[in-house]
Amino acid sequence: MTTFGILGAGQAGATLARVSVDAGYDVVIANSRGPETLAGLVRELGPKARAATVSEAAAAADFAILAFPYVPGTRLPVEDLAGKVVIDNNNYMVWRDGHYPEVDSGQKTVHELRQEQLPASKIVKAFSHVQFHERHPIRVPSDRLPAIVRLAWPAGAPDRKALVVSSDHPEAVEFVTAFYDDLGFDAVDNSPLSESWRSAPGTPMWKGSVDGQSRDELIANLKRAERVIA
Ligand SMILES: NC(=O)c1ccc[n+]([C@@H]2O[C@H](COP(=O)([O-])OP(=O)(O)OC[C@H]3O[C@@H](n4cnc5c(N)ncnc54)[C@H](OP(=O)(O)O)[C@@H]3O)[C@@H](O)[C@H]2O)c1
Repeated sequence: MTTFGILGAGQAGATLARVSVDAGYDVVIANSRGPETLAGLVRELGPKARAATVSEAAAAADFAILAFPYVPGTRLPVEDLAGKVVIDNNNYMVWRDGHYPEVDSGQKTVHELRQEQLPASKIVKAFSHVQFHERHPIRVPSDRLPAIVRLAWPAGAPDRKALVVSSDHPEAVEFVTAFYDDLGFDAVDNSPLSESWRSAPGTPMWKGSVDGQSRDELIANLKRAERVIA
C-alpha cells in the first residue's frame, strides 16, 4: 500500500490524514514538536497511521505533503524527499506570513519558492482551496463536516466538484489527479507553478471554493483571474 507522509499535523494535515486513511492509504504524520505530541491523533486514526519525526516521515513516504506555511530558510528534509512527489497546499497570506517581495512583484509564485527549497522533489500545488474545517455559516448539520469530506462525490456523479493542481512535473500532476479521484474530486490542471497565482487567495476560483466548483466552473474562474502586482 502507498504511504503518505504528512508533514504538518494541524487542521489541514490531521484532516487529510483522516480522509487518506479512509481511502486506504497508510499515513506517517509529523509535526514540529515530535511524535509523542501526536499520540491522540494516531490513536484516533487507527492501525494504518503512525507518528514520526519530520525526517522519518519524509523517508518513509512514497509521496508527501508540506501542510504548513512557506517560510524562507526553513530546514526541510531535502534528501529524504528527493525524487518524490511533494504536495504544497500552502496559501500565501500576508496577514500571517508577512511580505515576500518576489511574490508581491509577480516575479515568482510562492510555490516556485517551495520548489527551490526542495530542488530534487516534484512540488505540486494541490488541496490549497478546499477547506479542512466546517463551513461558515452553518446552514444544515452536514455543514459541520470539513469541505474535503462534505464536497466529495464518486466519479461520474453529476454534482462532482473539481480541485486545482499545478506543477512543473507532469508525473506529479498525474499522481495528484488520481489521488483527488480517490478522495472524491475531479482535477483541473493549472500548470506550471508559475501559473499557480490563478488559484491564490482572493481570486475568482478562491471565492467560489466554499461550496465547491464543477470542472467547467473552475476552468472559467481560473481564466478570469487577474494578477495583482504590488
Ligand atoms: N486549514 C485549512 O482549511 C487549509 C485549507 C487549505 C490550505 N491550507 C494551508 O495548509 C497549511 C496548514 O494550515 P493549517 O490550518 O493546518 O495550520 P495549523 O493548524 O497551524 O497547523 C500547522 C502544522 O504544521 C506543523 N509545522 C509547522 N512547521 C513545520 C515544519 N517545519 N515541519 C513539520 N511540521 C511543521 C505544526 O506543528 P506544531 O504544532 O508542532 O508546531 C502544525 O502541526 C497552511 O499553509 C495553509 O495555508 C489550510
